[in-house]
Amino acid sequence: MSLPRIAVVGTGGRALCFVETLLTRHRAARTLVALVDPSPTRLAYHNELITQRWHAAPVPTYAPEAFDRMITEQRPDTILVCSPDFTHDRYILAALAAGCDVITEKPMTIDAARCTAVLQAAQRSPRRVQVAFNYRWGVYRTKVKELLATGTIGRVHSVNLEYLLDTAHGADYFRRWHSEMASSGGLLVHKSTHHFDLVNWWLDAIPATVHAHGDLVYYGRENALRRGDGRWTEYPRTTGMATGDDPFALDLRETESFRRLYLAAEADSGYIRDRNVFRPGIDIYDQMSALVKYRTGEVLTYSLVAYSPREGMRVTFNGDRGRLEYYEFTGSHMNRAVTGSEFQNEQHGSAEAAGEWIRVFPHFAPSRLVELPPAHGPHGGADEVMFEHLLGTNPPPDSWDRPAGPEQGAASILVGIAANQSIATQRPVHLDELAPLPAAARRLRDLR
Ligand SMILES: NC(=O)c1ccc[n+]([C@@H]2O[C@H](COP(=O)([O-])OP(=O)(O)OC[C@H]3O[C@@H](n4cnc5c(N)ncnc54)[C@H](O)[C@@H]3O)[C@@H](O)[C@H]2O)c1
Repeated sequence: MSLPRIAVVGTGGRALCFVETLLTRHRAARTLVALVDPSPTRLAYHNELITQRWHAAPVPTYAPEAFDRMITEQRPDTILVCSPDFTHDRYILAALAAGCDVITEKPMTIDAARCTAVLQAAQRSPRRVQVAFNYRWGVYRTKVKELLATGTIGRVHSVNLEYLLDTAHGADYFRRWHSEMASSGGLLVHKSTHHFDLVNWWLDAIPATVHAHGDLVYYGRENALRRGDGRWTEYPRTTGMATGDDPFALDLRETESFRRLYLAAEADSGYIRDRNVFRPGIDIYDQMSALVKYRTGEVLTYSLVAYSPREGMRVTFNGDRGRLEYYEFTGSHMNRAVTGSEFQNEQHGSAEAAGEWIRVFPHFAPSRLVELPPAHGPHGGADEVMFEHLLGTNPPPDSWDRPAGPEQGAASILVGIAANQSIATQRPVHLDELAPLPAAARRLRDLR
């Protein structure tokens, strides 16, 4: 019997993680039949790895304009979307129209109009759309879900989630397409989609209204000049420049992936991977906060900072039988981008107070620490578990509702889209004014 056929769209850093697992652990589950990308150099690098590292036949490659021809020639069952965020909707719609299933990287898309189009197309289609929310699949995050779902602290009424991106990981979003609102929706969509999804899923709740603030206070030319770091503004990019004491200087010659995926491919599309984070023209925020009210009454207070000396999150839940605190810190990164499988395991163990723990504080009883074995692999072991479900043959039904469809994908991005609108208008925004989630649904699990 022939295996299900899968095509990958966008062959940058994230796609490498999927292609690697498709050619190794999940080789017996799916056949990779095509790669789609505007960069012939990145496509060729993928095929070099496929043939030389994973000892498989080269995969046919296509430019984005040839997507429809790729469908006709290669007849994929599933399209895996790993291209920049602003292109996701185009491929989700085209894949559904061609009768394919879709697995899309987060965020599902970046604005309300595209979100509505995806929801309507998914509703009309018999094919399946899944959003690759890998954060859900981490061991500790799943344990938090289990503790809340089994009533450990009673009914949860409020949540506080503080997320810190450090000056390596956070800065990396200000070097390239993520730094343009029109390409990524800003960090409230691109990055916070993970966090809003986690809270939706943990609470099993659907967000209803959002009030937010956002500013650019650290990156960008003006902020560097104001702080007296003007010497770091003097070059448009950092590789090969006299960057002196600039801790944000990224040298693309340092690793094979940077060299082969980006430096060598610059002439293909003009994609510069190491633009100066202190250049003019950045239009996304590096400091954001939001207040979210859910259909079922819960409240989330959320903050994201992208210029922190340390990386991680602190989440606290207040229930009517107690409180749960979840703490996940990876310590201080060196000034190193964290993209692609080869980098994701690096630099995670250097600082004090790194680690993950959950503590439960019942009302009228001593608190207890919930201990778990350490998780290994990219994204705290979450990727491997998620890949097993998304790509494996006959994955078992999931006890904790971790697979996410298009409506759950929308429930997360709509919080960020509403937050962007709230920042622009300085008013609260109702999600039901943005895109049509089922009006009668009360719980996240009621959504596909
Ligand atoms: N879940 C996670 O942990 C995680 C981690 C990293 C990235 N991502 C997601 O994966 C996606 C890709 O991110 P990345 O870090 O690999 O970015 P990247 O810039 O390294 O790669 C993007 C690739 O898409 C290609 N591309 C550009 N325009 C295209 C088009 N119109 N059609 C097809 N391909 C096009 C680029 O040439 C590039 O090869 C993003 O949506 C991002 O949010 C998710």
